Order: sequence, then structure tokens, then C-alpha cells
Amino acid sequence: MDNFDLTPLRVGIAGLGTVARGVLNILLTRKDEIARHAGRPITVARVANRTAYPEIDLGGARFSTSLSDLTDRGDVDVVVELIGGEDAALKLVTRSLSQGLSVVTANKALLARHGNALFEQARQQEGGVVLAFEAAVAGSIPIISSLTRSLVANDIEWLAGIINGTSNFILTAMAERGEAFEDALAEAQALGYAEADPTFDVEGIDAAHKLTLLAALAFDTAVDFDGVYTEGITGITPEDIGYADELGYRIRHLGIARRTGEGVEVRVHPTLISKESMLANVNGVMNAVLVMGHASGPILHCGAGAGELPTASSVVADLVAVARGDAVHVRTGGNHTPILDMHQVESACYLRIPCLDQPGVFARVATALSEHDISIEAAIQRESAIHSDSGVSWVPIVIVTHRVSEGVMDTAIEALQRVDAVIGDIKRLRVEHLS
Ligand SMILES: NC(=O)c1ccc[n+]([C@@H]2O[C@H](COP(=O)([O-])OP(=O)(O)OC[C@H]3O[C@@H](n4cnc5c(N)ncnc54)[C@H](OP(=O)(O)O)[C@@H]3O)[C@@H](O)[C@H]2O)c1
Repeated sequence: MDNFDLTPLRVGIAGLGTVARGVLNILLTRKDEIARHAGRPITVARVANRTAYPEIDLGGARFSTSLSDLTDRGDVDVVVELIGGEDAALKLVTRSLSQGLSVVTANKALLARHGNALFEQARQQEGGVVLAFEAAVAGSIPIISSLTRSLVANDIEWLAGIINGTSNFILTAMAERGEAFEDALAEAQALGYAEADPTFDVEGIDAAHKLTLLAALAFDTAVDFDGVYTEGITGITPEDIGYADELGYRIRHLGIARRTGEGVEVRVHPTLISKESMLANVNGVMNAVLVMGHASGPILHCGAGAGELPTASSVVADLVAVARGDAVHVRTGGNHTPILDMHQVESACYLRIPCLDQPGVFARVATALSEHDISIEAAIQRESAIHSDSGVSWVPIVIVTHRVSEGVMDTAIEALQRVDAVIGDIKRLRVEHLS
């Protein structure tokens, strides 16, 4: 073979969990094909994990329970960090880079918090040290490669993604089977799609970790996890899904990053999108990221967002790039455009307003909105929706507004809550027309 280098790239893997097992599997079973793509062999020299699993085939790699053996023994060229979490992972990645070892990680929580410093550390290091992280966002989908290579000719206008499979599974189950949130979550847990503690997924934190990385790459801003507006899906009811359906929408938990004249919006929240849109038709645990480039137009990236082999697929792709010497050096924060406060963001809104069942109530709601210059695009108020609790008859009025800033909508909702015919908390969801 032309230009084949017999010097192997020696890999040290930290962790022996789901993703690490997938990486071992691919590196051991597709050794020759991977060497051909990499132009040199990629061998697993060491594995470190707090627990030994003698039943796992390490392909002859040395095993240790000490993570520092990966960095300090001089027999590893690249460390693959697959232990997750922040503290031990940060220590390992920092130590690896300072020892002149490249790092491949799938750890979005680590990069969302420490990405700026770690990318800078890798860049400052001599000898072509890189920090690669394709697997950290959307599992198998090559979205990091897309943003850092394939789409670099573009001025990215916005991107929107379904970047947490658990939340998408739950919303899909609620829509398809009319399940309540709790039942859909229990189903996700039974199928192994959700952790016993699902907080990171259903509260949007995991999606926010990923979105902050995507926004930094798309807009050259700093990785700013604290700047991401984050709202989960725990408040979504089958009733909301039903009304959205009637109005022509599906509810998806989206991460949205958009460049505006004032700055960059970075937000994660349940969103009504047209049933016809590409993202609305991404179901179950699948992930998808829609990117709008000024030259490319819209590009949908879609695939498995998690799992042993899908995630390992991205880790191994990074290893091959490191072996070839063509992994991308990421730099963040070149553009000092601010991340916008949520109050400055504009979107259309869905409002579900519980009102007394009296004549003239709809007009009073519409007047309260128009006093804040908010116009109504669509509305539903049906007799069949009337409820009677403790002798009080009420009906939800459901409204979709035209675009309005969050700040104005906050004030309008406060005013609406003071209307005496409004007898409960108003539900507000954002509506996006992704075109
Ligand atoms: N799973 C996915 O589908 C997926 C998708 C995308 C990204 N990721 C990311 O990939 C990373 C790994 O995820 P995973 O699902 O493979 O996790 P996992 O199954 O929980 O495996 C983590 C492994 O790391 C070991 N470990 C944890 N802390 C350690 C420490 N301080 N010292 C030594 N070993 C330690 C654990 O040891 P024990 O064996 O003793 O528990 C376990 O073997 C995470 O950053 C995750 O966010 C995962």
C-alpha cells in the first residue's frame, strides 16, 4: 500500500462502559480496514477503568485501575476519555494534553464547562496535539465534522436540532400513543433509553451541553453553557400535543442557535414546528440537526444519537483523523458577539389559557394581547373542551401568536394572569417556522 506507515498509533482508553466497549469492538474487529483508512495501524495499548472486567477482550492491551497509567507510562499516543463526568475527566484530559498526548472524548458535559480552556490548551501544545470530540454531540452523526470542515464556506444563519434521544422518544410516544409524560418516561426507562435519574435528559441539560458546543462552532463564539436558556419537557401534556396537532404542529424538544443583528440566540426548549418540517418527522430516539448555511441552504443531519456502536463510530472516526494527522484544531471565542438574553429572543408563541366559561372572555384575552401589540395567528376555543371543577366551568383558550419578543410576551402573560376570567396558570410554548 502506498504511503503506509508501519508505526502504530497507540491508543489508551479510559473507561470500560457502553461507549468504550463499542470502541474496543470496532478497533479489534475492523483493525485492517481502519489501518487502511488511517494509513497506519491503530492499536489499543492500554485500558484503564476503576473496575476490571476480565470477560472483555482488550485485544492484548495492558489493563490498569489507575487513569494516570494512560498518561505517565510513555506507551500511549492518544487518550480516549470515556469515563464521563467532570472532575476525573478534566484531570485526565488536562494531564494528557500537557503530556503532549492528543485526546478523543465523547464528554459533552466536560466540554460545555471547560471547552474554551481545553481547546486553547491543545492549541498551545506543540507537536500537533488535538482535542477531538465528534462523539460528544449527537452520537453517530458527523455534525462536528460538518461544521468544522464541510460547511466552512458558509455563513451559518441558524441551526436547530433534536439532540437528546430520550426526550424525543418521550414526545413521540406521547403523540403516537397519547401517553402521559410519566408513562412515556417509564417506557423509555424500561427500554434502556433513559437513566434511572432522567433529569439531565428531560430537563434539557444534556441538550444544552451539546448546543453550547454547536453554537460555538457555528458562530465562532466562546463555549458558554451558562448563557444557554434551558427548558425541559416535563410540563408537556397530551392536551398540548393534541392542540398542537390540531393547529398543524408537532412538539419537539429543540436546541436552537441563531445569529441575529444583536447577537446569538442559544436556547433549548419544547417547540411547536410544522408537521411538514423535516425535524417534525424525526421520531423516537433518533437525533437530527438542521443547519442553514447561506450558501448550502438547509442541510439535515440525521442518525442515532447514542448507543454503544453509533457513538463508538464517531470516536473511531476521530482516532483515524488523529492517526492521519488531519484532525481539526478547534478554536472558540474568536467572535465576541454576545449570547443574547432570552428576553431579547423573538418567536411566535403557543398559549394555553384556562378561562371561565363565560361570554366575552375570548375578546378580553385578545384585547389584553393587543394592548401589548401581540397579534393572533390562530386560536381554538371549543365547547367540548369545557371542564367543571368544584362547580366552576372553564375552557382552555389556545392561541398561536405572531412573532413577539420574550420580554413583551412575559409582560403580556403577567397582564393576562390578572384578568379575572383567567383562572389558572397560562402555558407558554415557543413556535418556530424553520425556513
Ligand atoms: N452511552 C452513550 O450512548 C453516549 C453517547 C454519547 C456520548 N456519551 C458520553 O460518553 C461518555 C461515556 O459514556 P458511557 O455511556 O460509556 O458511560 P458508562 O457506561 O457509565 O461508562 C463509564 C465507564 O467509566 C468508568 N469510570 C467512571 N469514572 C471513573 C473514574 N473516575 N476512574 C476510572 N473509571 C471510571 C466506569 O467504571 P465502572 O465500570 O466501574 O462503572 C465505566 O466503566 C460520557 O461522557 C457520555 O456522556 C455516551
